[in-house]
Order: sequence, then structure tokens, then C-alpha cells
Amino acid sequence: MTHITLFPGDGIGPEISAEFKRIISALAAPITFDEYLIGERAFEKYGVLIPEEAINSVKQNKTALKAPVTTPVGKGFKSVNVQLRTIFDLYINLRPAKTLPGVPGRYADVDIVTFRENTEDLYIGDEYEIEDGFIARKKITKTASERIIRAAFEYAKAHNRHTLTCVHKANILKKTDGLFLETFNRIAPEYPEIEANNRIIDNMCMQLVTCPSLYDVLVAPNLYGDIITDLIAGLVGGLGMAPAANIGHDIAIFEAVHGSAPDIAGLGIANPTAFFLSGALMLEHIGLEKEAEKLRSAIEEVLKEGKTLPKDLGGNAGTKEYTDAVISRL
Ligand code: NAI
Repeated sequence: MTHITLFPGDGIGPEISAEFKRIISALAAPITFDEYLIGERAFEKYGVLIPEEAINSVKQNKTALKAPVTTPVGKGFKSVNVQLRTIFDLYINLRPAKTLPGVPGRYADVDIVTFRENTEDLYIGDEYEIEDGFIARKKITKTASERIIRAAFEYAKAHNRHTLTCVHKANILKKTDGLFLETFNRIAPEYPEIEANNRIIDNMCMQLVTCPSLYDVLVAPNLYGDIITDLIAGLVGGLGMAPAANIGHDIAIFEAVHGSAPDIAGLGIANPTAFFLSGALMLEHIGLEKEAEKLRSAIEEVLKEGKTLPKDLGGNAGTKEYTDAVISRL
């Protein structure tokens, strides 16, 4: 049995994580979930957003599945997600995006995996005042650039991907983005089987909305990665369909990209697909590739058939009903 830390989260989190547990039972996957509250409910119960036991469980299990959590607003709290990335040095934000049958999208053939650097860039939050406004500092280091770029090349190689594109603005930010691009160009020759190229961020955005099928794996510093991953999610059906992983040296936390959707919490109508797909990434990560594939195929069949779709995909199935349909095809 592999122990996985499960954060059932807030809002729609408990609903979609309960459904995922039913899927794991139906798959008979050798997994035991160790459940811990983090986020708003943890704060209400324990007075902290991330209790120590939750941190220790991730340290011990090395793999966690996290449903969305609510970070209380206006009380000076640092985002739970940012805290987790910092505590465990989860430097890779991995965002696969693929057109799924039956899901309305602009293109039929998008299949892009983005590696977003997760620890530096403008997200260090180093802003200071000047006479007429503020300045924000952007941090790009050789070490952080090298490890995300290597991870992207290794992924491309392991998954038989053909092209890796580096996204940057090195024509303007000659030192910071210049270093990121220079690091990419230095590492690329070590992977002759992968075609390495680069795009300036503005051109990248235009190309992604006009000819996304030309792109395969992307690697980007934090801010550009943040923006293009949502743009790409929009091409394949929106955030309700977007899984993600935050990966560090030996710890990985899997999560859906969307938030806790408090407006529909408790109504039983949340679309659990993104969370299920994040679960599939988690299964793959711990070596249960067959189970991951079974789950993905079952989801694709249900979507393609189009009879049992959640509300946000134009259907009228509740979260449980949709999960039943997925389970019936496992
Ligand atoms: P949100 O993603 O929770 O909701 C935006 C809209 O999308 C809402 O109308 C919601 O009903 C809908 N939606 C989201 N997920 C859905 C799903 N699975 N099925 C059907 N509809 C869905 O973003 P919002 O409203 O900006 O944030 C709400 C809370 O979530 C905030 O407290 C925020 O801090 C938190 N959040 C947490 C994240 C995480 O834990 N990974 C990520 C983003 C936001």
C-alpha cells in the first residue's frame, strides 16, 4: 500500500475528493489516503492554515493530492498554495493540457505540456516605493533556471515528445530572461533527440491562439508560465478541465487548477474532471500507470458519449452521477 496525503480542502473540495476516493476503490488501486485539513477549515479548527501534522505527513509520504482550498481574504494570510510550494521547494509547476473529445474547445488537436518555474521571478514579491510609484524586482537565477529546464528536457525525452520551446522576453530583459534563455541554449545540445527552439512571450501568445498544434512541451519562467498555462487551459475547455502538479526534488503535490468555487459548494454540481485528471497524474507519478490510463480513458469515454455531463460542460449531471458514469467505464 502506498500512503498518499489527501487534502480534502474547502468549498467543493470535500465533494470532489470524496468522489475520487470512490474511483480509487473501483480501480482497486493499492493506495491508502492519510487525510488532513489545510486552508479555511483548518484555520477554523486549529487556528493555522497549514497544521504541522499536515506538513509532516507530506514529508513522510512524499506525494499528496490536494483539493482546492480557500485562503481567507483580507487578514494578511499568505496563500496556502504559495506556502506549500515554499515549504517543500516545489520548483516545477507541470500543466498538461489536451483537447478531450466532446469538450467544447477551439481546436481539436491541442496537446501541450508546460513546465512553469515555481519559485522566483516577480513572485518573490520584492516591491518597494519610489517617489512616483513602486518598483517590483524580478529574480532569475542560474540554479533555478537550470533545474526547471533540465526537468522539461527530461520529461520530453521520457514521454517521447519531440519539441521543447523556451518562452522568454530576452530581447528586453537582457540579464534576467537573457540568463534563462542562455541556460536553455547551453543545456539543449545534451538532448539531441529533442528539437529545441524559443519564442518571445508576446509572439508565443499569438501562436498559441492561432496554431497551438505546432507546440509540444514549453518551459517558462514563473510569470509567463502562469499566464500561458491559463491561456492554454482556455483552448481545451477551461479551468474545470485543467490538472496540475507541483513537483520538487522528492516531493510532489497534485491539484486541480481551479479554486474552491464557494458559489457552488454543497450543491453537488461541481465538475470533478480536473481533480480526477490530477489524480491520474498522481497515479502515474507513483508508478500506477495502468490505473492512470484506465481512469483517463473512462473520463474520455464519458465525455465523448456526452450523455452524462456536468453542468459547466452543458449537461445536467451532478458530481456523483458523473462519477458513477466514469466508474461504470473503468
Ligand atoms: P474558482 O476557480 O474557485 O471559481 C471561479 C468560477 O469557476 C466560479 O464561478 C466557480 O463556480 C467555477 N468553478 C471552479 N471550479 C469549478 C468546477 N470544478 N466545477 C464547476 N465550476 C467550477 O476561483 P475563485 O472564485 O477566484 O476563488 C475561490 C476561492 O478559491 C478563493 O478563496 C481562492 O483563494 C481559492 N483558490 C484556490 C486554489 C487552489 O487551492 N488551488 C486556486 C485558485 C483559487
